[in-house]
Amino acid sequence: MCGIVAYIGDEKAGPILFDTLKRLEYRGYDSAGVAVKSDGAIEVIKSAGRIADLEKVYMALGSPGESMGIGHTRWATHGRPSDRNAHPHTSGEVAIVHNGIIENYLDLRELLTEMGYEFQSETDSEVLAHLINFYYQGDLLSAVSRALERVEGSYAIAVLAASSPYLVCARKDSPLVLGRGEGATYVASDVPALLPYTKDVIRMKDGEIACVYDDRVELRDLAGVPHAAEVERITWDADAAERGGYPHFMLKEIHEQPRAIRETIAGRISEINGDVRLPLGMSDEETASLERVTIIACGTSYHAGMLARYLFARAAGLPVDVEVASEFQHLQVRPKTLLLGITQSGETADTLMALKKAKTCCMRSLAITNVVGSTVTELVNATIYTRCGPEIGVAATKTFTSQLVALILLAVRLGRARGHLTPDQARKMLIELTKLPGLVQRVLEKREEIREIAEAYADAGCYFFIGRDYLYPISLEGALKMKEIAYIPSEGYAGGELKHGPLALITDNTPVVALATCGRKIQSNIKEVRARGADVIALASEGDPDIGKVASVVIELPETRPVFSAVLCTVVVQLLAYYTANKLGLPIDKPRNLAKCVTVE
Ligand code: F6R
Repeated sequence: MCGIVAYIGDEKAGPILFDTLKRLEYRGYDSAGVAVKSDGAIEVIKSAGRIADLEKVYMALGSPGESMGIGHTRWATHGRPSDRNAHPHTSGEVAIVHNGIIENYLDLRELLTEMGYEFQSETDSEVLAHLINFYYQGDLLSAVSRALERVEGSYAIAVLAASSPYLVCARKDSPLVLGRGEGATYVASDVPALLPYTKDVIRMKDGEIACVYDDRVELRDLAGVPHAAEVERITWDADAAERGGYPHFMLKEIHEQPRAIRETIAGRISEINGDVRLPLGMSDEETASLERVTIIACGTSYHAGMLARYLFARAAGLPVDVEVASEFQHLQVRPKTLLLGITQSGETADTLMALKKAKTCCMRSLAITNVVGSTVTELVNATIYTRCGPEIGVAATKTFTSQLVALILLAVRLGRARGHLTPDQARKMLIELTKLPGLVQRVLEKREEIREIAEAYADAGCYFFIGRDYLYPISLEGALKMKEIAYIPSEGYAGGELKHGPLALITDNTPVVALATCGRKIQSNIKEVRARGADVIALASEGDPDIGKVASVVIELPETRPVFSAVLCTVVVQLLAYYTANKLGLPIDKPRNLAKCVTVE
């Protein structure tokens, strides 16, 4: 996830900017840069690669600049990691750093190009620099406000102009924190970067814009109405601050899911056409001629692929084969097949090897990944990014739910291109999809209820997760999460399969998590396990009249389409595993024997 810093005070800005950028390193980045005010002009130093290397370049140049500057760590979302795509971006005497996604950047880019602006990068962010420059006539606050009125999307920005005595910062749907010190004001994307300098912070709110001086901060909304700045005294230590106050990265990342889903959807829905904008690397005619899809993935990403089997058949009339990457060598791909690799890291060796082997016999290949420029992107015809920021906890959480959302968008695009969905059907589904982040937030608000249930069953000898239809893959994911972070042997099963063997394992020390938001057939499976002494924790839609009669405990979830309820159930199974592992005192972010990215076959 990109990081922003800025400084205005009575010390040289450069060293402070580099120090604060290093404190944002844990968020992950692929390039970095700073812009400092120097002799009435702006000096920019930026490049792909490590901050420490960039700092050496800055020092070799004689540590230029005075007491005002901005800095950035970039985690690519639009355009590969490169020197040109690194921030800050400049236009005339204006320099900006940006975190977020400008959804209408292509329209703005076209407009600005017609006006004579020359673009240096492939990023969405550069349009902001030119727009602000266009409006700037000595009043930076007014220029930034007018530019932001033209922008759709999410942003946290810091803006510097050579002739402005103050910096301007603004935010919408991306975090930004201002720190007030003695004769200096510091800016950063999150609190840890500021702690060595000050513990007095102002968390900017959505829609706020700030004039940042060395001795004060003036907050307004975009219409110019002044807002009072609420100063908060931070009491966390630096370690806890990195995790945003959460005890583990996994819990932080679980809570980031509403935003991650929003970013995955951002700019991709066309309500007017009832369609989705996605780069598939093929025409609608080619898409219509596809006969099947083969999905290759490992672990949690494989579970996302399993959900696509149900989804693509219904939305696009396409049969899907889902293959565990390491087993793929034994299988054949048929012609007229779309090959789809799903890998959050983009570097999993098993997935890369299988994709290399399969792509020669497929019509087209696609990847869904979270890492721009990762190896998988070089192997396929087109890539869909999930844009949810780096995931630090070893157990995949926000990257999985974002993969599910990317697959829903892909299913709609395939369905529309193949004439399987009408614009109206697609539009209804997409409008509901935009409400999903809010529903996920409501599930997160049930964390205390879920914690109590998890703790009550933390000494279970074995866990079962059962589901049908879209929820069968989520039952596998629930079991995987419980195994990997709580070390409890767990099984995920299609509800109907229980009676074909695994029922023998059910005892009164085997809690069964029944994912019951998709149809009523699962209730007979609940009765089967209850009759064998098991407690059943049922996840059901609000107002389900019968579930309370069959389950031992019910967690109610907002009602939505079955495929969207798969995302809601995922959040619950993640929290169940998390709180179980926490109760057992296990190293949640780094479970034994596991690595975040498996680059060996
Ligand atoms: C489980 C988990 C792993 C990964 C698997 C594939 O929580 O994270 O099962 O899903 O190693 O990784 P990617 O998606 O990077 O290919």
